[in-house]
Amino acid sequence: MRQVNVALLGAGTVGGGVVNGLRRNGPLMASRLGVDLQVRRVVVRDVRKTRDFEVPERLISTDWKAAVTDPEVQVVVELVGGTTLAREMILGALRAGKRVVTANKALLSAHGEELFEAAVRHGAGLYYEASVAGGIPIIKVLREALVGNRIARMYGILNGTCNYILTRMKAERAEFGAVLADAQRLGYAEADPGLDVDGYDALHKAGILASLAHGFWVDVEDVAVEGIRNVTPLDMEFAGQMGYTIKLLAAIKTVEGGAAKGRSKGSGKTGAHVSISVCPTLVPNSHVMASVAGVFNAVYVRGDIVGDTLYYGRGAGRDATASAVLSDLADAALDLNCGGEERIPPFVPHERHGAVMPSGEMISGHYLRLNVTDRPGVLARIATQLARNKIGISSVIQPEGHEGESVPLILMLHDAPRKSVDRAMTAIRRLPVVKAEPALFRVENFE
Ligand code: NAP
Ligand code: HSE
Repeated sequence: MRQVNVALLGAGTVGGGVVNGLRRNGPLMASRLGVDLQVRRVVVRDVRKTRDFEVPERLISTDWKAAVTDPEVQVVVELVGGTTLAREMILGALRAGKRVVTANKALLSAHGEELFEAAVRHGAGLYYEASVAGGIPIIKVLREALVGNRIARMYGILNGTCNYILTRMKAERAEFGAVLADAQRLGYAEADPGLDVDGYDALHKAGILASLAHGFWVDVEDVAVEGIRNVTPLDMEFAGQMGYTIKLLAAIKTVEGGAAKGRSKGSGKTGAHVSISVCPTLVPNSHVMASVAGVFNAVYVRGDIVGDTLYYGRGAGRDATASAVLSDLADAALDLNCGGEERIPPFVPHERHGAVMPSGEMISGHYLRLNVTDRPGVLARIATQLARNKIGISSVIQPEGHEGESVPLILMLHDAPRKSVDRAMTAIRRLPVVKAEPALFRVENFE
């Protein structure tokens, strides 16, 4: 049986899971694939650290350059994270002709085009299943299983840390900071948890999915993002009373016509125009995405031939992510074993006029919570500002049991372009009857 040697760059949460996974199921994989995967090198920052996996000490070092150029190594797995050293490591490995596996969505988001181009140029192969939605094989789904479909819509709960925090805040009215600390302890959060809770990690993943689905590299700089720091237990409660759950939702939709920015700006040519948003969103409780709880992720994909499909699983954590890395290791080993290039290149841009819709043009319903002075005429003043911007109100709730100088007032707003909503909000914030910073969240009805 052919042996394929692996160099692991990084052996923390995910890397340790990969070593353990290979130890546990390596023989099973060998019998299924006809290839024996062996860890030959493990590169870490601190060789003296106690590890909760077993590899012979002689395999562990800090010398990544020796690992990526070792002629006995065929596959390099980057699990260090970050966008500087990891980029150097991957480019070094690709230049040395190694097949590279990575879980690093931040790096792909920032430098994906360069890395994919290098992989093709060196005939080396770049595999990245673990970069999106943890253990869910969504990259394989888009690259292979749904290759015969145009993707009309995708919705994703793509950040395990945020979903874990929102779920516990809702169920236990738990405090944000304490739940975040639990997510860090469980190995879900990024080294910089701001990437999770401010929405950037989900944005990086949404950008990768949108690029694969629409065939042009999506620059996430073009996408408005909002994290979960402003979601309060009060909003969860009011949303619940109206039949909704608040999720950090990525929505990727094909736009028929409409202005778009990005590469095709001003080109006058038609191409895939895509709207992308990543923000706290009210999801109807009747929709399956509302029941995705805890660290679980879900991706809902609508193809023009297949119709609606749903993918669900653990979105973060050691074993779920290691499972995705093992899948990439298997693909890399099979490609090597068949003596050829990857059957499907890592990412090939094929849509020359694709562009991302500006966030101000996106149309959706909104949930608005205001803190207002409790006296006659207040609602009329707010409604006037909304009407001036052609925004209709679908329902109003002033919950009982709130007393004091200011009380909550919740409005559900009809579909309107975000730029109109933002204009109305500027005027509403200035009203003397509005006593605190309003909460404004998108409502998604999946129509
Ligand atoms: P981690 O636990 O912090 O592990 C990072 C590893 O990289 C550690 O083994 C560390 O060595 C090593 N390292 C750091 N700097 C190094 C350097 N200068 N030279 C050599 N080695 C160095 O991170 P992780 O959670 O496993 O995440 C790894 C990657 O997977 C990231 O890109 C992350 O975004 C991605 N990811 C993580 C998850 C998850 O649930 N955790 C899920 C999907 C994707 P020491 O052990 O000696 O400190
Ligand atoms: N920090 C990420 C999350 C890890 O919580 O989803 C998985 O990509």
